[in-house]
Amino acid sequence: MTSRVVVTGLGALTPIGKTVQESWTNLLRGKSGIRPVSELPGFKEYESPCPASVGVANVSDFNASDYGTLFTSQDLRRMSTFTQFAIVAAQEALIDAGLLNNLKDLNAERFGCVIGSGTASIQDMYDSILAFDRGKRLSPTFVPKILANMACGNISIKYQLKGVSHCASTACATGNNAIGDAYNFIRLGYNDLCLAGASEACVHPLALSGFLRAKSITADGVSRPFDARRSGFVLGEGAGLLVLESLEHAQKRGARIYAEVEGYGLTSDAYHITSPSENGDGARRAMKMALNRLDPKEVDYVNAHATSTILGDRAEMQAMNQVFAEHPRDKLLKVSSNKGSMGHLLGAAGAVESIFTIKSLQDGVVPHTLNLETAGGAAGDDPKAWQLLDLVQGKPVALEMRYALTNSFGFGGINSSLLFRKWED
Ligand SMILES: *[C@@H]1O[C@H](CO)[C@@H](O)[C@H](O)[C@H]1NC(C)=O
Ligand SMILES: *[C@@H]1O[C@H](CO)[C@@H](O)[C@H](O)[C@H]1NC(C)=O
Ligand SMILES: *[C@@H]1O[C@H](CO)[C@@H](O)[C@H](O)[C@H]1NC(C)=O
Ligand SMILES: *[C@@H]1O[C@H](CO)[C@@H](O)[C@H](O)[C@H]1NC(C)=O
Repeated sequence: MTSRVVVTGLGALTPIGKTVQESWTNLLRGKSGIRPVSELPGFKEYESPCPASVGVANVSDFNASDYGTLFTSQDLRRMSTFTQFAIVAAQEALIDAGLLNNLKDLNAERFGCVIGSGTASIQDMYDSILAFDRGKRLSPTFVPKILANMACGNISIKYQLKGVSHCASTACATGNNAIGDAYNFIRLGYNDLCLAGASEACVHPLALSGFLRAKSITADGVSRPFDARRSGFVLGEGAGLLVLESLEHAQKRGARIYAEVEGYGLTSDAYHITSPSENGDGARRAMKMALNRLDPKEVDYVNAHATSTILGDRAEMQAMNQVFAEHPRDKLLKVSSNKGSMGHLLGAAGAVESIFTIKSLQDGVVPHTLNLETAGGAAGDDPKAWQLLDLVQGKPVALEMRYALTNSFGFGGINSSLLFRKWED
């Protein structure tokens, strides 16, 4: 017997807000968290070959000292930024789930933590390598600061969570994989509760230059998912954490339930480390796996991975067509991407977008894709393929929903998909 798994708490720190509610409101308002790289504090310190037209979406004005007693002065010195981001999101999620003040009443050994990061701390790596090269002594915190599982380590200590401690690091699929892993841990009875999600603090000139060299980032500073003029993603950062809980545990403590995790799919393209397979084969199979036996017609909305690259958006479109468009339905399936507003949060993308997907279900509204003007139309796009889904543009659309899917794909060939169902008492 496996347990049903529900979502009972949400926390987020994004380029468009310091809480879930602020981020969600700004997303619906069409606010952009993207600004020119030249405006970033400290950017000019680096002799970077990065054109000033490049955009970035970092968590603007983040200062851990603004959070009062959440961080001690020792924490501020010893924790890397991605861990600080994760702690802010964890605190919000625990409060939201009504757990923060009741942690002592819970069985700590049944409360786990699955928090991933794609790049962990590029800043600490960079600073330490420079210092080391100049003959300086390394800080004893260097090693723990650059480990991707340290957000999980610090959070387990802070809140005394003694169940599963695990870290997914699967590039841009990290957030989805962390939530999927936590879902399975609870489903299989390892834990009753789990903080699950991801954190990324990757807006750094070294990362920017690397992605520019890999030709993944757009030089024009605008993220345009699914649009004719899309030309690459915009580097973003942030954190998203969810409280996942077995249905039984949630009901016993009278928790407010947002949604049920209904399915999880993960596959490999086995094709190329950075490019998608042309027909979107891996993504198609991931979505099918997440749907399991659910009729694709039942899905009301897909929160797409769509990062604004020519090949990636096209492959995802083809995959969605194969999964959904071939099943006749009254109205076309609604699809949108959050990356026009906040850029691509790498490992944290799937976690924050899962939160937005759940908000969509809860509020009955599909956010539009910012900067989407003409769907398809980039060199090589087949015009017919872009007519089969309703790509929401211009403004949010009200829609009563039951099922929504969210995709995340990562370098290395990973394709992942999560299916959520709106909770109805
Ligand atoms: C934003 O990016 C710049 C990189 O130039 C960095 O200096 C800054 O600390 C980043 N993060 C925040 C929270 O501002
Ligand atoms: C963060 O806030 C503290 C206290 O207000 C201040 O001393 C510090 O300079 C700030 N740090 C940054 C990077 O702005
Ligand atoms: C958090 O992790 C850092 C290493 O990244 C460690 O030095 C510090 O002691 C930890 N703090 C807590 C409160 O767990
Ligand atoms: C599947 O994963 C790969 C990673 O290599 C990613 O680039 C691609 O976009 C994903 N597939 C599709 C169809 O998007």
